[in-house]
Amino acid sequence: MPREPLEAIMLVGGKGTRLRPLTLSAPKPLLPTAGLPFLAHQLARAAECGITHVVLATSYRAEMFTDAFGDGAQFGLSIDYEYESHPLGTGGGIRNAAARLHGGPDDPIVVLNGDILTGHDLPAQVDLHRKTEAAVTLHLVPVEDPSRYGCVPTDGTGRVTAFLEKMPNPVTNQINAGCYVFRRSVIDSIPAGQVVSVERETFPGLIEADAVVMGYAEAAYWLDVGTPEAFVQGSCDLVLGTLASTALPGPVGESLVLGAARVAPGARLAGGTTIGDRAVVEAGAVVEGSVVFEGATIGAGAVVRNSIVGYGATVAGTTTVGGATVRAATTDGVVIGDGAYVCAGNELARGLRLWPGTRLEPTSVRFSTDA
Ligand code: GTP
Repeated sequence: MPREPLEAIMLVGGKGTRLRPLTLSAPKPLLPTAGLPFLAHQLARAAECGITHVVLATSYRAEMFTDAFGDGAQFGLSIDYEYESHPLGTGGGIRNAAARLHGGPDDPIVVLNGDILTGHDLPAQVDLHRKTEAAVTLHLVPVEDPSRYGCVPTDGTGRVTAFLEKMPNPVTNQINAGCYVFRRSVIDSIPAGQVVSVERETFPGLIEADAVVMGYAEAAYWLDVGTPEAFVQGSCDLVLGTLASTALPGPVGESLVLGAARVAPGARLAGGTTIGDRAVVEAGAVVEGSVVFEGATIGAGAVVRNSIVGYGATVAGTTTVGGATVRAATTDGVVIGDGAYVCAGNELARGLRLWPGTRLEPTSVRFSTDA
């Protein structure tokens, strides 16, 4: 049966502080992920799910979104942009973007956080929303450790009964997955031009007012890519095909090597690694489960694991200093900022973040004693 065209708002106005320093030069939804700006994977998926018109709710670095996605034709979508000069929060951002929607008061509007990778059945979520004539229908996902999040209990019919803050012993392992279907008129009732949080104000307010807020529970692939570890995992999952993306610019596999990147025959790429355009990986280097941005260099024998290497940054290979051989640099679970230079003999690990342009002289940082 042909589906009715759907409209969506994507929230992309956040500053992405947990991903600094990468988000100093680009907003989180535009960071290169499996070869494309992160949001491109979501836009492709939105089009497949029947969405025809998307409004991007922008604030931080807004102009970069227009440059990246234009009118949306590359995805078979029509994309409009709405701008907040002061970030209005999730609710205020949705309300502001709604000015660009075409639909009527009863139409369903899909709202997506711009930092979520999800494989759930969005059309089924929309169907539940229509069938129950809900004010809002939220995608809920089960997580192993719900105490790290606020949780969202539902009753036997799937109706949301509360929005609970983080607590030591949560009453359910279901959490808010950041993908909603709103009845348009509900968006229009959010106060305009004010900072509003849907999670802290709009949803609890609707439940308090006895509006029908439904939970659509589905345990499909789901990841919030807000932290460096999760960002790397998301990119690798797309390359490995753990989450299918029709936007992936190459076949799924252990690695994705883009455009004019050069990878020496003796180098080893694995774990869903992406090597950006014009990046260089020299002989004997190992790059596993990592994202290497455009123009970066991984020197001979260097080992890069579970890391993000920014634009034009270098992780140097084996070298000689004063006649002595200094072993290649290694990284594990770190973020190397744009243009940073990690000389040989450095061993970076455990969540270290190197700021853009920094130069680490040979053997400046070690975690082991065998320098
Ligand atoms: P952190 O600073 O690292 O927490 O990231 P963030 O700024 O992206 O915040 P968070 O992850 O909580 O945001 C969830 C989603 O809402 C993201 O897609 C953000 O881009 C978006 N978002 C957050 N605040 C605003 C806002 O004020 N306006 C708009 N338009 N979007 C927002």
